[in-house]
Amino acid sequence: MINLRASHGTTEISFTVNSEPRKISAYPMERLLDVLRLKLGLTGAKEGCGEGECGSCSVLMNGALVNSCLVPVLQAAGTSIVTIEGLAASDSLHILQEAFLECGGAQCGICTPGMILAATHLLNKKPAPTTDEIREGLSGNLCRCTGYSQIIESVANAARRRSAPAIEHSGITV
Ligand code: FES
Ligand code: FES
Repeated sequence: MINLRASHGTTEISFTVNSEPRKISAYPMERLLDVLRLKLGLTGAKEGCGEGECGSCSVLMNGALVNSCLVPVLQAAGTSIVTIEGLAASDSLHILQEAFLECGGAQCGICTPGMILAATHLLNKKPAPTTDEIREGLSGNLCRCTGYSQIIESVANAARRRSAPAIEHSGITV
């Protein structure tokens, strides 16, 4: 939602971030990444390339995976955003976060929030992806540390755990 009473070129913009209604004053073309990090203190989304190539700034916007460095905040008005900070329920880790820890899917961690959000997006669409589908699902996210095999295993691990009948995981759909 947008308040049309703009002041000094800024505009009031309302949206939902991690299930909380938020209202901010921003220049319409400010990057969503900067608004999240600098105005809302959500520093999980990282700036890597700043030009849509690395995926380290990935967030979910109305369920779609987007590079927040490319999204003018005006475009986010009225949407529902999920960042890595909002993925897990209460104090427990999300199943993908557990899997990344267990399988060594994170090293320096710069790419990890974006990878986990890309994996969330993938598993929401394809609960039991093949290795090729995991590679494809993460193809917009670059990692300089892991060589990718641990990341792919992390996502496969999370998918297996989620499909295990004895274990209930409710937090995968965002
Ligand atoms: S910082 Fe946004 S895609 Fe690289
Ligand atoms: S863990 Fe360092 S860039 Fe991926």
